[in-house]
Amino acid sequence: MKEQLAQIKQQAMEALQQAQTPAQLEELRVRFLGKKGELTAVLKQMGKLSPEERPVMGQLANAVRAEIEEMLEKQKAAAHAAALEAKLASEALDVTIPGKSVVLGHAHPMNQVLQQIKDLFVGMGYQIVDGPEVELADYNFTKLNIEEGHPSRDRSDTFYFTDDDSVLLRTQTSPMQIRVMENAKPPICILAPGRVYRKDEADATHSPMFHQIEGLVIDEHITMGDLKGALVTLMKKLYGEEAVMRFRPHHFPFTEPSCEMDMQCHKCHGTGEVDGQVCSTCHGEGWIELLGAGMVHPKVLEGCGIDPEKYSGFAFGMGLERMAMRRTRINDLRLIFDNDVRFLNQF
Ligand code: PHE
Repeated sequence: MKEQLAQIKQQAMEALQQAQTPAQLEELRVRFLGKKGELTAVLKQMGKLSPEERPVMGQLANAVRAEIEEMLEKQKAAAHAAALEAKLASEALDVTIPGKSVVLGHAHPMNQVLQQIKDLFVGMGYQIVDGPEVELADYNFTKLNIEEGHPSRDRSDTFYFTDDDSVLLRTQTSPMQIRVMENAKPPICILAPGRVYRKDEADATHSPMFHQIEGLVIDEHITMGDLKGALVTLMKKLYGEEAVMRFRPHHFPFTEPSCEMDMQCHKCHGTGEVDGQVCSTCHGEGWIELLGAGMVHPKVLEGCGIDPEKYSGFAFGMGLERMAMRRTRINDLRLIFDNDVRFLNQF
């Protein structure tokens, strides 16, 4: 029996030395120490021993069990450490590798210009307002003193929704003048940017959808001088102190007097010629038309319940695309709407 125990111990120690994984070690534990294990089998034979031999063998068996257990624990710890080591090695994280940069987009050049214009007007005390693109003909035309039969009401120019021509896609942001004046009392000082629609074929300078920015200021003693001051301030801030503007008489049914504002061509500096050739940017005009404006017509004020004897005001409507074209120095409007990232990334 003594030899049996010694043999078990030797076999167990050798096997444990070689075992590497927790699973192998568990297998060995069962084999040597388990209920049906080899050590237990030997202990079951104790009954056959003499009373003197029994405690001696018992002690020896316990010692063998203790040694095997100790070795088992030691090997378990080693296997665990090795497994951890292997896991750490396989999951190694190199914190020195440079990160992947995230590609951030940016505002569309048109939105950049719009934001800049809005900021400048907000700085002058204007409030930004928004209104419907699907508009009533009443607001788009009638209340703006544009009579029945006026060419701009023509079906070939305007997108109508109804057979009676009463609902349409607004052709200008000017109906916002009416919407604001009907709902607010002077002093009024607003800016209304937004989309407008006209039945135009798309070409270098036309698009069936484009953007306007409407401005409206109503108070006592407002004059054309205030209009000029606001617009010249805007242009110099946008295009630099050297920007040269001119105001030209014009006609709009809803303003009186009316004007258009042009900016001197940045390419030919007003000469209309570049290197002896007709300037391609202004087509030889020397000037680029930027907006329509004027003093709000007394009839329009009256129609909105504002006393034209007491109050006066100015309005202007500028084309955002025009402003953006000047800023981005492009000469084809379609580039702005194509959304080609190679174009957009330049701004
Ligand atoms: N709505 C006019 C247009 O689209 C521009 C304008 C606005 C003129 C305000 C005068 C006053 O041409």
